[in-house]
Amino acid sequence: MANVVVLGAQWGDEGKAKITDLLADEADVVVRCQGGCNAGHTVKHGDDVFKFHLVPSGMLYGDTQCIIGNGTVINPQVLLNEIEALQGKGYNTRNLKLSNRAHLTLPFHTDLDQAQESALAEKKIGTTGRGIGPTYMDKVGRYGLRIGDLYESEAVLRERLTQILDIKTPLLEKCYPHLPKYTVEELLAWCQSFAQKLAPYVADTVALVHEALDKKQSILFEGAQGTLLDVDYGTYPFVTSSNATAGGACTGSGIGPTQIDRVIGVMKAYTTRVGEGPFPTELNDEVGKQLLEVGQEFGTTTGRPRRCGWFDAVIAKYSVQVNGLDGLAITKLDVFDGMSELKICTAYRNRETGEMINQFPSQLRALQNVEPVYESWPGWQSSLQDARRYEDLPVQAQRYLGRISELIGCRLSIISVGPERNQTILLENPIKGGKRTLQSAETVIA
Ligand code: GDP
Ligand code: IMO
Ligand code: MG
Repeated sequence: MANVVVLGAQWGDEGKAKITDLLADEADVVVRCQGGCNAGHTVKHGDDVFKFHLVPSGMLYGDTQCIIGNGTVINPQVLLNEIEALQGKGYNTRNLKLSNRAHLTLPFHTDLDQAQESALAEKKIGTTGRGIGPTYMDKVGRYGLRIGDLYESEAVLRERLTQILDIKTPLLEKCYPHLPKYTVEELLAWCQSFAQKLAPYVADTVALVHEALDKKQSILFEGAQGTLLDVDYGTYPFVTSSNATAGGACTGSGIGPTQIDRVIGVMKAYTTRVGEGPFPTELNDEVGKQLLEVGQEFGTTTGRPRRCGWFDAVIAKYSVQVNGLDGLAITKLDVFDGMSELKICTAYRNRETGEMINQFPSQLRALQNVEPVYESWPGWQSSLQDARRYEDLPVQAQRYLGRISELIGCRLSIISVGPERNQTILLENPIKGGKRTLQSAETVIA
């Protein structure tokens, strides 16, 4: 049994939760490694639809150990709400553990995120407003508060909060005098109100992960956000504040790269983005509207409409590079049902010089100055929602997938044709370490 990273290979919302929920059936442990309640992970089981923000998408299996790792940032109220919602539907939450090294999003982090966005006005990043950036800022600045700090003596916790406010209050008062002010005693009461409720879940999760590794159990690492939102590799500064790429699975859970067997990149059959920032294949036309409506492309966390566009093989190939992807999970292929023409962006062209660009540009200005170069593929007129084997797909869909796999140099592992767990074509099970049964991409295209 393998240890597998499942991560977003575009701008988030690729369907990571659906794929994680599907593979969690075979995994012993599922770990969220980075991000916080900016994530919105949808798991659909018939009439039950869960939109997880913090708990791993393996929670619906009562016997799968679910871990919120040290690389995450935690809004305790959001976490408790999720736990209560699961319990309310009869799910066991004793299998959940929260790292004592994870950082807390304090009330002023959320205030600051929203104030910074307002101040940036039309230059805003379009964050989820959940305090993610300010929490990571304080973590890296070394004046964050960790979950484990909640269980220090009152005197120690008070001293830590005093240190934090001594640094933060003058900055906040100078830059954002209109924001609410918090005293040490208020924050102490806030911490104490959560400490007991969270206590049954808090653990040294690094030790838990290593116990699982020692027992040769299989671990599924569930990414949040996506590669193009990664703070290092994404469209900076229009990114989130953590490493959503494969390395984040290591730093956010306490394992080394040698302990990862497979890295599966989840990609939609087209591209979406929520929030501001460059998006070369964005469609501001009827096709874009159709993808939005048929794909129900509304943010899981904020409800904002997602921007939609054609599949971008330049970013997908870049994702293969920076994550070391060795398998693709292509989702939402069914959204193309009935469309006569599909396009794939194979390269960019500089709008001024005409120069062809094959490697994803690192500088924002260069990216803003490109136009996509497309090739056109025929669509299909049937419904894919009942396809369960590769052979069930119309030849046009097979060719489209084969071309994507060929262009980006990565094999297809999973194809998703609907939101339900069973609306899936599993070409191989990465957890079982199975071999691909699909004919090669070249054969499919020919
Ligand atoms: P995540 O953040 O990557 O987990 O993705 P989200 O949950 O934010 O968004 C993905 C949306 O697409 C959810 O509403 C899923 O239920 C839905 N979804 C996932 N896979 C498929 C698919 O293959 N087809 C369709 N039509 N919907 C899908
Ligand atoms: P999942 O895990 C899509 C985007 C925001 C914004 C940028 C920074 O569901 O795929 P932040 O609040 O993180 O400071 O916002 O990142 N963003 C996401 N977009 N899916 C997500 O998560 C996202 N999490 C953050 O829209 O553009
Ligand atoms: Mg999402």
